[in-house]
Amino acid sequence: MSIFIGGAWPYANGSLHIGHLSSLLPGDILARYFRLKGEEVLYVSGSDCNGTPIAIKAKQEGISPKDIADKYHKEFMETFEKLGFTYDCYTRTDSQQHHMVVQNVFLQLLESGKLYKKEEKQCYCSTCEQFLPDRFVEGICPHCGAQARGDQCDYCSNLLNPTELNDKICKTCGDKPIIRSTEHLYFELSSLQEELEGYVSHAKSNGLWRDNAIRLSERYLIEGLVDRAVSRDLPNGVSVPVKGHEDKKIYVWIEAVTGYYSASKQWALEKGKDDTIFWNEKTISYYVHGKDNIPFHSIIWPSILTSIGSKALPTHIVSNEYLTIEQKKLSTSRNWAIWVPEMLKTYHPDSIRYFLIANAPETRDADFSWREFVYSHNSELLGAYGNFVNRTLKFLEKSFGGITPNGKIDTDVRVIVNDLYNEVGYLIERTQFKKALEKVFSLVRASNKYFDEQKPWIQVKENHDKCTDTLTTCVYSIANLSQLLNPFIPFSSEAVRKTLGIKYFNWEEIELASITLRKVQPLFERIDKGVMDEEISKLKYNSI
Ligand code: MF3
Ligand code: ZN
Repeated sequence: MSIFIGGAWPYANGSLHIGHLSSLLPGDILARYFRLKGEEVLYVSGSDCNGTPIAIKAKQEGISPKDIADKYHKEFMETFEKLGFTYDCYTRTDSQQHHMVVQNVFLQLLESGKLYKKEEKQCYCSTCEQFLPDRFVEGICPHCGAQARGDQCDYCSNLLNPTELNDKICKTCGDKPIIRSTEHLYFELSSLQEELEGYVSHAKSNGLWRDNAIRLSERYLIEGLVDRAVSRDLPNGVSVPVKGHEDKKIYVWIEAVTGYYSASKQWALEKGKDDTIFWNEKTISYYVHGKDNIPFHSIIWPSILTSIGSKALPTHIVSNEYLTIEQKKLSTSRNWAIWVPEMLKTYHPDSIRYFLIANAPETRDADFSWREFVYSHNSELLGAYGNFVNRTLKFLEKSFGGITPNGKIDTDVRVIVNDLYNEVGYLIERTQFKKALEKVFSLVRASNKYFDEQKPWIQVKENHDKCTDTLTTCVYSIANLSQLLNPFIPFSSEAVRKTLGIKYFNWEEIELASITLRKVQPLFERIDKGVMDEEISKLKYNSI
């Protein structure tokens, strides 16, 4: 099987926060899992270096968009690496390769007759003497009345045209823009209504998308797909490859999502591989992002692919809801956020991954609180998992000379472990990561209980054979836990794998021959409870 995984492309205009991370993590879980199973996997993403968010930030800081993009692209790469993300290709949208592929796709759309020219009314700021890019216009959403940007209302998720906003202002100077005509290229989405209806209803009946993706896409389809302008007046981005339009840029709807395609091509070129196995009708694809990106992947990208004759439409849409922080909406402008590079300075990447998976906003918004974070680390990771591993291996060091025994594995435990590979795999493939992780942790809890009930510290004196069997069973559980946990918390999984001398993982039951343990070290350290208050005051102090 060939599995394509596309992670969303974060704007390179600021550090990653835990909201980004919680919506991107599923991509790495999927990639790791499918590789363990031996499938062909291509996992790509990159930094979005184009468009207004970068231009605005560059203006604010008085440096060029390129410098902003360079700075954050580098930081993103480091952050993803520290978190253990296993992208096969992590690129950027200001690369030559990307520009070329996007222009190609754009020309194919033009040839297929799906693009047409149209005079458009657009917001123009007389003070700044320019047509305003969508995000340079702000005002009141005509659908729900919330404060919204010109391209989209974050509150009701409607895509917007900036001219529709009420009480518009120019974001740069605060003046009221006027409306003027200019010629743009439009994507004839309306002509794809029927095809998209069939596509979405197929996804729905197969349960392959998250509910929020189904609901939102159905809403668009019920309202009827409307043609959208796909060229924009932007300072940075991919130029429209059409005579007379070269000064305009291709809009993010076509430009950024085509990154999945350009990154695949780049990977193929760099690694000398064939990317077409990931772009045909048999490919299983997972698109992983937050809910504000749903229409990009559930409507626009399939429409582009259909129009250029590709059959590789997204099969799974993995769109998380939002993560709140200490019960309040995350806000980068008010700095009510927890920045991942900062967090990584103090906390173990597995602790961060564990928390964000166990508390993922999969079906509804979820909350990050420092209290819960510390609690989840101390009681689950360290208290349950780390403790089981540690007490077992320490016992072996003390009473078995550090050699894993070769006794009988408890048959009940063996059944549980074998079932887990199927159950956890099924849940991961169905993108229910939180449940999958809970399942694995039920074995952690059962294992601690088993240890307590068997009392090997007494068995070792009274019935050595029994003690050998108990410890054999515990080591068996640990070995298999380390594999089952690999997609979720890879660093500690690797540490256990090395300690036990496991050669490789392949998502099948592990039975170890007797070996001498490498030096046993605790997997996690306790986090002092005092940090809860410290971190919360830091958050409050830094926010505005
Ligand atoms: N950078 C854009 C955003 O954050 C697009 C991200 S996902 C993409 O909204 F696939 F559409 F690129
Ligand atoms: Zn202005």
